[in-house]
Amino acid sequence: MSEFEITALVLSEHDAFRRAFTELQDTGDGLDGAWRELAQRLEVHAAAEEDMFYPQLAHDAEDGAEQGETAVREHNDIRHAVARVSELSVGSDEWWEAVRTAQEVNAEHMAEEETDFLPAFRDAVDSERREDLGMRWLQFHDTHDRAQGLSGDDADPEAVIAADPAE
Ligand SMILES: [Fe+2]
Ligand SMILES: [Fe+2]
Repeated sequence: MSEFEITALVLSEHDAFRRAFTELQDTGDGLDGAWRELAQRLEVHAAAEEDMFYPQLAHDAEDGAEQGETAVREHNDIRHAVARVSELSVGSDEWWEAVRTAQEVNAEHMAEEETDFLPAFRDAVDSERREDLGMRWLQFHDTHDRAQGLSGDDADPEAVIAADPAE
């Protein structure tokens, strides 16, 4: 399977998030910028999944609608946890505590995707389509580099799963 298949791209970003949260602990100067970049990448990731992954899963998989709604609610929980960090003074104890909360909320969500939603997607969607969506995934990241053009607001779970799968 190609490295540009969408579930492979999702997984490789999950690994990058795990590393980035760990590396944050060793970041001295530049902590603010490192956090901001991670927060932006988390938003691009969630928005890309809501744009093309979950509409397709809801369309094709038996439990896809329910799984998609769950995932989008969890994305919103991650958004809130990330927003909370940005309200605090960078590097303070409260700030680190909020970062750890965001890390945990995100880790739980990624684990659920990896255990349940990505395998369901691979079962339901054929490999050609998964490759097409992988190319769209990369284009979405180009278009929304550093989260430009994304509001960061909560997504509506029902609207995400009702959206037509990408052309
Ligand atoms: Fe997700
Ligand atoms: Fe994900």
